[in-house]
Amino acid sequence: MGFPVVRMRRLRQNENMRRLVRETSLSIDDLIYPLFVRPGKNVKNEIKSMPGNYQMSVDQLIVECKKVRELGIPAVMLFGIPEKKDELGSEAYSDDGIIQKAVRSVKKEVPGLLIVTDVCFCEYTDHGHCGVIKNGTVDNDETLKLLARQALSHASAGADMVAPSDMMDGRVGAIRNILDGNGFTGTPVMAYSAKYASAFYGPFRDAAGSAPQFGDRKAYQMDPANGDEALREVELDIMEGADIVMVKPALSYLDIIFRVKNEFNIPVAAYNVSGEFACIKAADRNGWIDGERVMMEVLFSIKRAGADIILTYFAKNAARLL
Ligand code: PBG
Repeated sequence: MGFPVVRMRRLRQNENMRRLVRETSLSIDDLIYPLFVRPGKNVKNEIKSMPGNYQMSVDQLIVECKKVRELGIPAVMLFGIPEKKDELGSEAYSDDGIIQKAVRSVKKEVPGLLIVTDVCFCEYTDHGHCGVIKNGTVDNDETLKLLARQALSHASAGADMVAPSDMMDGRVGAIRNILDGNGFTGTPVMAYSAKYASAFYGPFRDAAGSAPQFGDRKAYQMDPANGDEALREVELDIMEGADIVMVKPALSYLDIIFRVKNEFNIPVAAYNVSGEFACIKAADRNGWIDGERVMMEVLFSIKRAGADIILTYFAKNAARLL
């Protein structure tokens, strides 16, 4: 049967009718808000390319986390900007590192908010790569040992979940192993499983001061042209014990989110990254688009593709509208 008996517009005629047949839901429950913490006191520096996002000292981070909790957002993802960078990124696994201090304080001052920590070395190394350099490239197996130490020190500080974003082979297993060996059997791993070598990370690298000082990340992050490979990455991370798998960035990779969700029975996160945020903000500020409407459209598209969780710099803004 078709037109004129069938008329698709009947179910679109007003908002209540549309609500009844809406297929995708977006909820505050789906959101994780990324935050940047740096040393100092009373510091709150806006990140130029990410309006409304800041590098914050721990005291300011606490104020921010209270607001996030009040809005009903379940979780934050913390990124650290260390006091000092060195060749090995040693502050990343120091008990007095910026993230460890931040986690301890937020856990104490803002109970009821989940803290996820980014496990990676690019913010902590003076060369800006995601691990130990040997023969001009990041040495996979040496890096695994340090990633495991970093994850353990985050968990020891009180992190509720750790999220490795380095793209070394075997890191989920190495992290699961050290956590389990030290009594953190209950700390989940959210793996950045299909993380692409993307130009959409540009603003983040300003925010975290983590741009590589030589070369690029193509020898460990994925080639944007590949899809099947993402499924292999996800499968391996699941075999190594990942609890949640992530696709990153989100918008140019909606097909990957869709395929991962179809193929595997596991929660899927998508990272709506800094460059995706910046593009929308810039166009909005120029009056070229309605930024809020575009934001909601984008977040719905990520959910519709199959994501269960969205990491997004829009989390607070979206939470106010939901
Ligand atoms: C660290 C890391 C990056 C992002 C999250 N974790 C940057 C990178 O890989 O260069 C990007 C997040 C964003 O752009 O919002 N490895």
